[in-house]
Amino acid sequence: MEVVCWKDQQLFLLDQTKLPHQTNYISCARYQDVANAIYLLQVRGAPAIGVAAAYGYALAAFNYQEGIGLSLEHFLQQAARELLATRTTAVNLRWALNQMNEVFLSLQGKTITQIRDGLLDAAYQIHEKEMELEKNMASWGASLIPPKAHILTYCNTGALATAGWGTALGIIRTAHDQGKEIHVYVPETRPVLQGARLTAWELQKAGVPYTLITDNMMGYVFLHEGVDLVLVGADRIVANGDFANKIGTYSLAVLAQYHHSPFYVAAPFSTIDMEMTAGKEIPIEMRDPREVREIQGHPVSVRDCQVLNPSFDMTPHHLVTAIITEQGIYKPPFDKSLNSFHEDGVDK
Ligand code: MRU
Repeated sequence: MEVVCWKDQQLFLLDQTKLPHQTNYISCARYQDVANAIYLLQVRGAPAIGVAAAYGYALAAFNYQEGIGLSLEHFLQQAARELLATRTTAVNLRWALNQMNEVFLSLQGKTITQIRDGLLDAAYQIHEKEMELEKNMASWGASLIPPKAHILTYCNTGALATAGWGTALGIIRTAHDQGKEIHVYVPETRPVLQGARLTAWELQKAGVPYTLITDNMMGYVFLHEGVDLVLVGADRIVANGDFANKIGTYSLAVLAQYHHSPFYVAAPFSTIDMEMTAGKEIPIEMRDPREVREIQGHPVSVRDCQVLNPSFDMTPHHLVTAIITEQGIYKPPFDKSLNSFHEDGVDK
C-alpha cells in the first residue's frame, strides 16, 4: 500500500490517523495541504515526512503563478519555511527541504516547466532512494538478531513511517523473512497510539508474530516475558550519539540497561544531525493537549485539565548499544564512529 504517491499534479497521502480501520487517501493540491497533513500526523515518521515535504516543495513550484508579487525563488522559500515549521524534532524534514533547495538552485535559468519537472524528479529520487537504503539498513540490522528472539520495539517505524521498507520494523521484517523465530512486543504508544494502530497493523499484514501491550507493561515484559533486544527508530541523532525519538523511548532505554538487554537504534543517515553536538540541543516538539486528554477524539480525562505533551524525548548515547544505518553498524564511542562515517561514508 502506497504511503505517499504523486498523481496528476497532486500528492496523495495515506491518512495514518484513520488506520487501521479505514484506508483513506488525502489529496493535496497545494503545498499548504501537505504542511497541514504533516502537522496533523496524517503522514508521520521522520523519513516519511521528509519524503512528503520533498513532494510538497515540488508541489509549490506547480502552485506558483506569475504576477502574485513574489518571485518563484521567494515563493519556494516561503513554502519551505511553512513545511519546515510543521514538526520541529525530525531532522529529515530539514534535510529533504535542503536537498530540494539545492536542486532548485541548480535549475536556475531554466523554464518554469523544466524547473517543475526537475523538482518533481528530485522528490521521486528522494522517495525511491529511501526504499533502497532501508533494505541495506535492514540487512545490517538483521545480522544483529539471533535466530530466536523476543524483541521490544516502540512507536511505528515501518513502511508507514518511512514511505519505504521501514527502519527498526524493516529490520524485524527482514529477520522474519530470513526465517528467524521472532516475537515482537508492541507498546501501544500513547498519546496517539502509533504502536497499537500502525505497528500492530503492519506486523499483522507481514505475518510477524507480535503481542500488543500498553506502555506501562514494558517493565513487566522485561521481567516476565524476557527481552533479548530493543530496536527503535529515531527522529534526530546528534554527533555524540544522543538521539530523540517518540516520547517513552528514554524510559525504555533505562529499562533495557537495567535488564542488560542490547538497545539498538536504526535510522537513515538523513536522520543524523552532525551540526548538533549533544542531545540537549534537540528541539522537542510540544503538541496539542487534546492528544493526551482524549483518545481518538473521545475525552478520557477532566475537561481542560493541565497537560504535558512532549512528542519526543532524548535518550543519552551511553544507553545505546549500537546505531544501525544504511552504511553499517556504529558502536560507541559514537562521537568517533559517526564522525568518521560523516567524513568518508564508509567507516564502521
Ligand atoms: O510522531 P511520529 O509518529 O512522527 O513519531 C515517529 C517516531 O518517533 C519514530 O520512531 C521515528 O520517526 C522513526 S520512524 C522510522
